[in-house]
Amino acid sequence: MTYPNLPRLKACSADFSRLWGYSVGFYGVWLVHVGRQTGLLERLACDQLSVSQLISASKLHPFAVRAWSSGAICYGLVSEKKGRLCVKPGMKALLLDKKNPHYLGGQLSYLALRSLKYGDFEGLFRSGKTREMSSTLSAIEQATDWDHYAFLTSVRYNKKIHNLLLSGCRLLDVGCGTGGLLAKMQHEYPRSNFTGVDPSAKAVARARKIAKPIKITKEAGESMAFESEFDILYLGESLYAAHDKQKVISNCRRALKSGGTIAIVEGLLPESNPDRNENKLIMGMQLDFALQGYKFMTRKQMVRLLSKFARVRFRDLGGSVYLVTATK
Ligand SMILES: C[S@@+](CC[C@H](N)C(=O)[O-])C[C@H]1O[C@@H](n2cnc3c(N)ncnc32)[C@H](O)[C@@H]1O
Repeated sequence: MTYPNLPRLKACSADFSRLWGYSVGFYGVWLVHVGRQTGLLERLACDQLSVSQLISASKLHPFAVRAWSSGAICYGLVSEKKGRLCVKPGMKALLLDKKNPHYLGGQLSYLALRSLKYGDFEGLFRSGKTREMSSTLSAIEQATDWDHYAFLTSVRYNKKIHNLLLSGCRLLDVGCGTGGLLAKMQHEYPRSNFTGVDPSAKAVARARKIAKPIKITKEAGESMAFESEFDILYLGESLYAAHDKQKVISNCRRALKSGGTIAIVEGLLPESNPDRNENKLIMGMQLDFALQGYKFMTRKQMVRLLSKFARVRFRDLGGSVYLVTATK
C-alpha cells in the first residue's frame, strides 16, 4: 500500500499540528466550562472519587459524567490514581480560585458562553450586522472577576489610593456592568462611598441586586454631568464600548476632584509582536469584539485620550490587560 500524500503532510506538519491544536483547544474550553458549571471540578477539588461515586454525589446523568470524566483526564484537568479522580491544587487554583492572579477559569467560561453567539458571524460578514453585548452579561461576569481582583490587588499596593479608600472617599464606576467590582470594593472598603453608572438597563437591574445598596444609575459615560465629586473614577473594560471615548474621558475628568485619580482597566492591542503567545488571545478576540461592533484600543490611543491628565502610568496586568492610572 502506498501513501502518496505522506511526504506533503510531513512538509506541512508544523501547520498541521498548529491547526490540530486549535481543534483540541476548542474542546478543552468546553471541558473546563462544563466542569465548572456542573460543579464536577469543584467536587473533585474537594474529594478523591471514583467515576461511580462522582455520578452519585453529583446526581448528574451517568452517560454525560462518564464522557466528561474521560475527556477531563485525557486533557489533564483531572488526575486519576487507582481508579479515583481528583483536581490537583495547582489546577484548582487556575480553574476555580477567582482570587488567584493566574485564574483562567472565568476566561475559559467566557469563551464557551460567548461562542454560543458565534452563529451570528454570518450576519457580520454578509452585512456588517453587529449584536448588542447585553445578551452576554453572564459571559462578561465570568471574564471580569479576574479584572476586579487584579485591580483590588493593585490598589492594595498603591498607598495613596488604598489609604484614601480605607479612610473613606468617593468612587464612581463608569460602565459598572452588573456591579461585581462595586460589591467587592464595598466589602473591602466599608468607609468609602460608591456610585455606578451603566447605559445597559439589564446590567443596571442586575447590579442593583448584586451591589445593594449602592446607587446605580442607567447612564452612559458620554452623558454624565458630575462635577468635582469623586476622588477615584474606575472604568473596567468599558471604555472600548463607548462610541465617543473623548467625551467619556472629559466627563470623567470633570467628575473628579482636583488631584483625583482615574483608573482604567482595559485590554490593549499589542503595538509589536502580535504573534507572541501572551498576545494571541486579544488578537483572536478581535473577531468576537467585531461581532459586538467594538475595537480594542492601542496604548498610543489611550495616551492621546488622557492628554489632559498628569502622571499617566501603565501597569501590565497580564494577558494584554492594562491598568492605566492618571491624575487630574
Ligand atoms: C465588559 S463590561 C464591564 C463591566 C464592568 N465594568 C465590570 O468590570 O464588570 C462593559 C460595560 O460597559 C458598558 N458600556 C457600554 N457603553 C458605555 C458607555 N458609553 N459608557 C459607559 N459604559 C458603557 C456596558 O453596558 C457594559 O456593562
